[in-house]
Amino acid sequence: MAKPKTAYACTECGGQSSKWQGQCPHCGAWNTLVEAIAAAPASRFAALTGGSSAVRPLASVETEESPREATGIEEFDRVLGGGLVAGGVVLLGGDPGIGKSTLLLQAMASIGTSRRTLYVTGEESSGQIALRAQRLGLVNAAVELLAEVQLESIVNAIRTQRPDVVVVDSIQTVYTEALESAPGSVAQVRECAAQLTRLAKQSGITVILVGHVTKDGAIAGPRVLEHIVDTVLYFEGDPHSSFRLVRAIKNRFGAANELGVFAMTERGLKGVANPSALFLSQHPEAVPGSCVLATLEGSRPLLVEVQALVDPACGGLARRLAVGLDPQRLALLLAVLHRHGGVETGGMDVFVNAVGGVRIGEPAADLAIVMAVYSSCRNIALETKCVVFGEVGLAGEIRPVQRGQERLREATKLGFHRAIIPAANRPRHTIEKMEIVAVERIDEALATLRS
Ligand code: TYD
Ligand code: MG
Repeated sequence: MAKPKTAYACTECGGQSSKWQGQCPHCGAWNTLVEAIAAAPASRFAALTGGSSAVRPLASVETEESPREATGIEEFDRVLGGGLVAGGVVLLGGDPGIGKSTLLLQAMASIGTSRRTLYVTGEESSGQIALRAQRLGLVNAAVELLAEVQLESIVNAIRTQRPDVVVVDSIQTVYTEALESAPGSVAQVRECAAQLTRLAKQSGITVILVGHVTKDGAIAGPRVLEHIVDTVLYFEGDPHSSFRLVRAIKNRFGAANELGVFAMTERGLKGVANPSALFLSQHPEAVPGSCVLATLEGSRPLLVEVQALVDPACGGLARRLAVGLDPQRLALLLAVLHRHGGVETGGMDVFVNAVGGVRIGEPAADLAIVMAVYSSCRNIALETKCVVFGEVGLAGEIRPVQRGQERLREATKLGFHRAIIPAANRPRHTIEKMEIVAVERIDEALATLRS
């Protein structure tokens, strides 16, 4: 087979050059040229000059309802939006050692009872996978294994085996002969993922790609992969605890931001049915600097403890550190707390942390962060079994958040009997055994701590 011609394409403007250069001759951007297979001019313009696609009125297009194949692992199905879709491509990203291969081996073993599966391993040998299967108690699982890293051989194997689901672990180890770049380079990762995606769409095979995450949290081969695939899932969690979260960042077939919660055990990953309990530390009595937040993770309300420590800075600059919470948001909230709550943190170190390694991005966490900081600053504890949520505005107002009722319901379920919430989220009916403290301004919320 003749080797396809390669060229260098700019990641900024898409312009092609025949050789590598430091600066793109088309748009002038620096260090943006990556190796790519050169598209023949004929095929590049095929779409413009006819081809089989015709213009049709939207109303005449039949809808495609994609049937879902549940993997049988409930928390994984939840993040997938119900299960795997034929012809769908899923990217599962995460730090090394977090449990990607474990989860996928468990999922393949479960699907293997009714479907044909192929597990392509480029990182570990077949023997190592077999050892893991033994540890997971899955030695008799109906999973086909292929230890291969060359894309053309993988595609051939898929074409001859015709499985329903293929796992490629990991996309960074796969390389195509067509490019000279090293495996794992942007060009290789992009080209291999694009070819596997094309194969999935043509054949209706579901493809799951494992992707490594770089130090700054992006799936290597910059964010290009996220555009190619249908679903992007990320593994999160504190590597030192046994809890693992799988979050859907993008999902063409379901809701994004859905969260699956697992615990890593001696025998693989186990779904956690009631995750709220994980993110609360069990203080026997109320302690200053701790505030329980009712947050929403995808479709699910979750109670998470937010902790703060405010301490005089020992010389030099005062430090602000946010673990699992947005540091920019923390800076903003400290300014609001100063202006509208009269609390000065200028010469203090401020540390905030979301317990259990969960990452919280929603502004509904604002009020809990403010309360935790204030509580630590004044050394007054919030009572235990009190839950908080609400967005804080720059003018010191407390703004409503979405789905307040569900948050309150989760809190009641876990035995909480007091809630400090935005006035606009006040429920229409009283909730049994739940005292609602509805606040409009930040000082009203802080006053609940003084009384
Ligand atoms: P792995 O799935 O290999 O991670 P990744 O593919 O994301 O790199 O997970 C490896 C870690 O999980 C390793 O530290 C051992 C641990 N582990 C368990 O605790 N229990 C188990 O049953 C298995 C298979 C792994
Ligand atoms: Mg692995």
